[in-house]
Amino acid sequence: MNVVVVGATGRTGSEIVAEASGRGHDVVGVATASDTVEDVRVYPNDDLPELLDDADAVVDFTVPEATREYAGVVAEAGVPYIVGTTGFEESGIEALRAASESTAVLKASNFARGVQALLRVVEAGTEALPDYDVELTETHHNGKRDAPSGTANTILDVVDSAREAELKRTHGREGEHPREESAVGVHVRRAGTIRGEHELMLAGNDEVLTLTHRAESRRVFAAGAVDAAEWLADREPGWYEFGDVL
Ligand SMILES: NC(=O)c1ccc[n+]([C@@H]2O[C@H](COP(=O)([O-])OP(=O)(O)OC[C@H]3O[C@@H](n4cnc5c(N)ncnc54)[C@H](OP(=O)(O)O)[C@@H]3O)[C@@H](O)[C@H]2O)c1
Repeated sequence: MNVVVVGATGRTGSEIVAEASGRGHDVVGVATASDTVEDVRVYPNDDLPELLDDADAVVDFTVPEATREYAGVVAEAGVPYIVGTTGFEESGIEALRAASESTAVLKASNFARGVQALLRVVEAGTEALPDYDVELTETHHNGKRDAPSGTANTILDVVDSAREAELKRTHGREGEHPREESAVGVHVRRAGTIRGEHELMLAGNDEVLTLTHRAESRRVFAAGAVDAAEWLADREPGWYEFGDVL
């Protein structure tokens, strides 16, 4: 399979290049400037349309403003598109939805299999304990741009859907700030090289349930993204989820 990795020079993109090459795929990279990563050639953004002529899938772990631009180019070429970038405004999501009318698009806030399992457990736990207070804490490395993480937002969406309510997201607390009954506390930590931790706490009278996922290496995201690329390569245009792959 011919795979184009955009954001190939990045922390996650370079792992995806290594994973896809290691599985025997033909890989080229794209970033803002020419480079090499894992002995794979990285081309500047302007070369992307030409690279798409032979591509079976494009994997994108960049920044929302770059993804919005790539989405139009990839859709025009009709190449299946796997998006791991997080932190989109509504207009970015709309650009991806528009792209999915002409090609297969799979967007996931987290390509770790364990996080997909966590989402199922969060749904079950939140449904089983409808009156318990919910607090979410996420921790990432000091270079992460968006907060809270895309995964945190996905977990909160699952909580809302399990509770059949839109809980008010309280981002940290300061000063006189009693807990509101219908609130969910969201706590963000940024430090060191931590790959990604998410902990959902459900607390009731005299007991606490915590559900935690910890990514120990970016390889886990790379493996999931390449699984998704292999799965998406022959799909019809449309919108797909990582859960479909699993
Ligand atoms: N879904 C998941 O499982 C998952 C897992 C991990 C990370 N992520 C997300 O993936 C994204 C990348 O994370 P990261 O830690 O790998 O970031 P990173 O190390 O900063 O890498 C970003 C990459 O994007 C490229 N880039 C930046 N600005 C660009 C622009 N304007 N146009 C084109 N390319 C641009 C960079 O290329 P240059 O250096 O050449 O500019 C670099 O290759 C983030 O949104 C992060 O939240 C998702």
